[in-house]
Amino acid sequence: MVSNTRASILLIVSGGIAAYKALSLIRLLRANHIRVRCILTKGGAEFVTPLSLQTLSEETVYSDLFSLTQNHEIEHISLSRQADMIVIYPASANLLARMAQGFADDLASTVLLATPDHIRILVAPAMNVKMWEHPATQTNCELLKKRGILFADPETGAMACHEYGKGRLVSPETINQMICQKLFGHQPLNGKKALVTAGPTYEPIDPVRFLGNFSSGRQGYAIAECLRDYGAEVTLITGPTTIPHPTGMKIVPVTTAQEMLNACEAALPVDIAVMTAAVADWRVKTFSDQKIKKQNNHQPPTLELTPNPDILAWISQHPTLRPELVIGFAAETQNILEHAKAKLERKKCDWIIANNVSPNTKIMGGEENEVTLLSSSDSQHFHRSSKKDIAGLLTQQIVKFFSP
Ligand code: C5P
Repeated sequence: MVSNTRASILLIVSGGIAAYKALSLIRLLRANHIRVRCILTKGGAEFVTPLSLQTLSEETVYSDLFSLTQNHEIEHISLSRQADMIVIYPASANLLARMAQGFADDLASTVLLATPDHIRILVAPAMNVKMWEHPATQTNCELLKKRGILFADPETGAMACHEYGKGRLVSPETINQMICQKLFGHQPLNGKKALVTAGPTYEPIDPVRFLGNFSSGRQGYAIAECLRDYGAEVTLITGPTTIPHPTGMKIVPVTTAQEMLNACEAALPVDIAVMTAAVADWRVKTFSDQKIKKQNNHQPPTLELTPNPDILAWISQHPTLRPELVIGFAAETQNILEHAKAKLERKKCDWIIANNVSPNTKIMGGEENEVTLLSSSDSQHFHRSSKKDIAGLLTQQIVKFFSP
């Protein structure tokens, strides 16, 4: 079973030349961290193999009603009950007719008949133009629509049978968007890739000690979750934190600044980079393999420091893979806006989020934040509120940036 999922789809693949498109759909859904369990009908198995579906979905593929009951599983009940949504892609004229009539003569039709009312069913028909236009098919579709079944009507175009007309299966991208919209609501960042860094970095001094900071990772995690909820495909690169990792995104745990840089490099290309992490500015020049012992004369050791790579400056000035929107953070304790502006210019990011992390604000490591978003031409203040609210306000600005 696939872990770190945010929703579960039961995908029914029925017969037709377009069945191969189900393979691309599984990949798109999996990239959105949606669990996909497949039922392959007898007709569907003439066009795609169970092994292809199984490999891409990383799940058992179901096809036979009777072998399941022999295993004493009431699978036709549980398969639909465990899904947030059922998608039939492609739906053949035959399956539509059997659904309309309430047949239960194979696993797919039986599961559909056993589906509780609250689970949405989305149907994407694909067939020859004459079959689609036939009154029998049209009557079946009308009946199913009246019962609340959702339709992704076929498109008009050239067909595999060399005819032209309506009946072509909607693309995997279109049905993926429809599914995400139904499951998660408005998805203005669908199709965008985002990289978020969060938390502190720890720079080892010896096997038991490190240089670190009080960052909790809360603000970065909240931003990553918000971007995910708006439809972005998120990679979260996180330093060591004690809060639970968000779900529905790729998580890359790292410890040091150098590891964070390597992970960022591996995550490119992306459209949006939000560098929330409190990256340690320095590391010790020479890591001691053994625990540094106290000296007899009680003199503390002298640690020689060396600068860490500046990940924000690196990504903002990347010669080939610079994200369209790069956002940095400026955690300051004095002359906040002045320092933040200087950082925006020096690092060459698009926006910088300035915040006051003086201990009396209880912002660093805390639940709340108060920030000012600065760009080269504009500034906006977000009043003190939860880090989740600040993430929401920032994400709305990101959506605006990408809206035509
Ligand atoms: O230079 P300063 O640490 O104040 O800049 C803060 C911003 O730069 C944050 O967005 C932080 O994630 C990023 N940064 C970085 N690499 C560093 C230091 C900071 O990406 N070595």
